[in-house]
Amino acid sequence: MNTDILIIGSGIAALQLATKLDSQYNVTIITKGKINDSNSYLAQGGVAAAIDQSDDVLSHAFDTLKAGEYYNLPSVVKYITKMAPRVVHELIDQGMTFDQIGHKLILGKEGAHQHRRIVHAGGDATGKHLTESLTNQLSEQVTIYENSFVYELLMDHIQQKCCGAAFVDAKGKKQLVHAKYTVLATGGCGALYQYTSNHPMALGDGVVLAQQAGAKISDLEFIQFHPTLLYMNSNTYGLISEAVRGEGATLINQNGIPIMEGVHPFKDLAPRHIVAQTIYNHRLKGDEIYLSIKQINQFQNRFPSISQLCTKYSIDLHDGLIPVTPGAHFMIGGVETDIKGETNVQNLYCIGEVANTRLHGANRLASNSLLEGLVMGHELASHLNKQPKAQKPEPIAPSSNLTIPKLPNLKHLQKSMMKNVGIVRRREQLTIQLNWLQSSLQSKLQTNLDLESFNNFIAYQMAYLITQSALKRHDSLGCHQMAEDVSSINTTESREYVEQV
Ligand code: SIN
Repeated sequence: MNTDILIIGSGIAALQLATKLDSQYNVTIITKGKINDSNSYLAQGGVAAAIDQSDDVLSHAFDTLKAGEYYNLPSVVKYITKMAPRVVHELIDQGMTFDQIGHKLILGKEGAHQHRRIVHAGGDATGKHLTESLTNQLSEQVTIYENSFVYELLMDHIQQKCCGAAFVDAKGKKQLVHAKYTVLATGGCGALYQYTSNHPMALGDGVVLAQQAGAKISDLEFIQFHPTLLYMNSNTYGLISEAVRGEGATLINQNGIPIMEGVHPFKDLAPRHIVAQTIYNHRLKGDEIYLSIKQINQFQNRFPSISQLCTKYSIDLHDGLIPVTPGAHFMIGGVETDIKGETNVQNLYCIGEVANTRLHGANRLASNSLLEGLVMGHELASHLNKQPKAQKPEPIAPSSNLTIPKLPNLKHLQKSMMKNVGIVRRREQLTIQLNWLQSSLQSKLQTNLDLESFNNFIAYQMAYLITQSALKRHDSLGCHQMAEDVSSINTTESREYVEQV
């Protein structure tokens, strides 16, 4: 089959692009689950934009750089923060409803922001409202293949050009789609970890596919752990948005002692990596950590989805305490691109979480991820809309018959990633993990190309790339924290805790 533009993935960046492409283009979306199975759909917080009159774009840019430990690319930070108010107003013009009082948008606050600047929808269901609004705008030019997975990008190796993809459709049939332009918008890889806020299919497909096609990958060691996932009986059950702390909730231990006092001037609203690492240190000492929501009036009105989640797991909101622990949330590194998603491989673009524009530096500022997806989708659509429309895609064949090694199950991998490549890392554990991943991937036993085996294969390859990157960065920076740099956790007690998780 032929298409002009092939989009792989269906989160915010994919949908923004698909809704903004010229109607002359024939567009195909391939997504592993249903159209709404994405991390974007699950997003609670919102979209950061300097909209308030007392706020300004430079302040948003400054907060982004500071949270990112100044590892960010300043030109990208400047451009995306400048575009933020514009993309928000465009969404509103297209019919999106953000929470407002009268005609005034209600602005939330999250970690490391100096101002209230997060627009949100449905209280704490921004991702759901945004993705549904964009999905409703998709035109008839867009063909959607759900429950289908891409297992190889079609490459013209002489010209180093991407020409589409090979995929398995919902009926299990192998198909080829020849495309003029191929866009990876596959999101992140949080589901590689035992504790995660991510959709179970977020395993890093785009990074692995792009890397195999010759694209440059970087900064994979920076996996952001969100400080507050609902935690019970050694399991996590979804996100408790940072916006909850933005409205005054505090992190306390089992004795009611606030744990962020004296750690950072912003206390509970410190940059995310600092809060996650502080909780980790407390848990090493055997502390239980709770989010105290007693200070928040009308919690259920402001946070209806989180209230529902707590009720589902029998947490009595009247007690005002939600048990929490950190979990993998966002892939900061990825495929190197510019703001419009251009990679070093001709006709291959990456947008959203799979891309590494260096907006986020070494730690992403809260609510800059939906923003990045929206801006990148917008920029890529403008770029592609200017391209000549006449030429046809080239019919390139897949390079080989993919063979999939039989691997230990995903749960095993997720536990080992949490333990060995988690919030705080040790060189010896990273090395053990890398060797184990390498030998697993070399397994001579093979298995069929079905979704479960493919997910497993992608997960092991992605875990290998992350571990390899983590070993290459010797010092701690942002989300990459080496235990050698944290004197308090170099103890027998800490080792026991790490063994446990
Ligand atoms: C949250 O709602 O805490 C997550 C927002 C984000 O990751 O930007």
